[in-house]
Amino acid sequence: MSSGQPRDGQIRVIIIGAGLGGCAAAMAMHYQGFHVTVFEKIKKFLRLGDSLGLGENALKLLKRWGLHEQLVKIGNRSPNMNIRRWSDGKILATQPLMDMAGYIGHRGDYHQAFLDRVAELGIDIKMGHNVISFNEEKPSITLEDGREFEADIIIGADGIKSQTRELVLGFADKPKSSGYACYRAYFKGDILRSVPQCQPILERDCVNIWIGPDTHLVQNTLRDGEEFNWILTHKDDEDIQESWFQPGDMNKVRESIKDWDPMIVSAVNETRECLDWKICYRDPIPTWVSKSHKIALLGDSCHAHLPTSAQGASQATESAAVLALCLKLAGKGNIPLATRVYEKLRFERVRQAQLNGEDVRDRWHSCLKNLEEGKEVDPEDVKMKNRWLYVFDAEKETLEKWDRVSAIVKKELAEGKVTPLFDSSTGPTRNLELYDAYGNRKADTKLIPKKQQPVTAVH
Ligand SMILES: Cc1cc2nc3c(=O)[nH]c(=O)nc-3n(C[C@H](O)[C@H](O)[C@H](O)COP(=O)(O)OP(=O)(O)OC[C@H]3O[C@@H](n4cnc5c(N)ncnc54)[C@H](O)[C@@H]3O)c2cc1C
Ligand SMILES: *[C@@H]1O[C@H](CO)[C@@H](O)[C@H](O)[C@H]1NC(C)=O
Repeated sequence: MSSGQPRDGQIRVIIIGAGLGGCAAAMAMHYQGFHVTVFEKIKKFLRLGDSLGLGENALKLLKRWGLHEQLVKIGNRSPNMNIRRWSDGKILATQPLMDMAGYIGHRGDYHQAFLDRVAELGIDIKMGHNVISFNEEKPSITLEDGREFEADIIIGADGIKSQTRELVLGFADKPKSSGYACYRAYFKGDILRSVPQCQPILERDCVNIWIGPDTHLVQNTLRDGEEFNWILTHKDDEDIQESWFQPGDMNKVRESIKDWDPMIVSAVNETRECLDWKICYRDPIPTWVSKSHKIALLGDSCHAHLPTSAQGASQATESAAVLALCLKLAGKGNIPLATRVYEKLRFERVRQAQLNGEDVRDRWHSCLKNLEEGKEVDPEDVKMKNRWLYVFDAEKETLEKWDRVSAIVKKELAEGKVTPLFDSSTGPTRNLELYDAYGNRKADTKLIPKKQQPVTAVH
């Protein structure tokens, strides 16, 4: 059990950050029998953010950790979603919601369910504990108040602005803009009850996406209209900060969509306040593990996703399951083997989930631009293609690949030469492999044209 002192021979784990990734890691580690302590700098969590998707790939793992019904209840109950033309709301494609984000609900509600389960398992989350430095070799962390805590492994689940990432990389780099920002609002549906034009999207759970040139708007109605949410993505031309508190100018929003489908304009028109949120992104990094092999990154700290991937929390959950299982298979005396197999198993999978989000965003933003006069949109061109991500079982995959990958890593560690996650001369893959609905790779792959990002090699 996690609470109290670690038992003899028990693996001691420190997790930095109690976001969805940190909580998932805490559960996964606990279920493998490790002693877990989580350090979170925030004193008390607020219900921040809005819509977040949890895919079946994450839910099947969370179920093994006793967290399933609670999550399904939070999500949107609509069977389908519509993709519409911005100007008149014409439906361009309809597809099952489960091909998209999976279960879409309020991030704050999901986070609370994760925190409740962690507490139920008796795992210690130390709130209001800010980690400010590390000792890589021990390994240990030091808090703002000077106290030091040691473990066998330290996991940096400290989000997109991660400080652990700086330690692992060996230098500081800032999150960068994805080139897009969004206005987002989440509010009680009451204020829309008297607006006739938006009733069709208020009455019951539904998801609609309006797409236009370089822009799209996602609308999400929960609990039969009790809660309403829209997120308008647009080109980022201002230098706003990455922040969940930056208010947006509703007059500007109303002006920017005034010529859109009146059904959504009427709802946005009535909205009283919104946030202006920069969509930040990170280039893939060549290692997720510190030089000592005892500090590992997990979640947004090493694999942030675009909102159009709808996989940020789900991929963090997969990473949690894989790292926990690798630690179990390697054993307390072999932490470096575990962390290095973990990053090798995870990197390409995460990369594909990230590229999937870039692909759908680019298809939505360009589809109507490139349309020849008089031509109809092919529904396949605007559908989200996430289903192949969901059939994956991260634990099963780890067990299948363990022997092969651990043999490679053992050799690398013995030679003192760990291969980076990608070749610095070519950069990480920019090819989105195509998969069928069952997760089988299709023969033809599609290149996503994108300028090569410069990549700095580290150790
Ligand atoms: C406020 C907020 C709102 C969000 N809203 C949405 C949304 O609406 N939709 C969506 O799809 N995604 C949203 N996300 C992103 C989504 O939550 C993540 O993609 C996913 O949960 C995986 O994140 P993570 O656990 O790796 O990091 P995060 O969720 O960012 O959690 C990191 C945690 O680490 C803590 N931390 C950071 N540094 C330290 C330190 N030095 N010491 C101790 N603790 C530290 C932070 O306080 C935070 O609680 C949001 C993230 C945040 C932080
Ligand atoms: C939205 O508001 C603007 C100005 O406030 C108004 O001109 C317009 O008719 C409204 N549109 C809808 C669909 O309600």
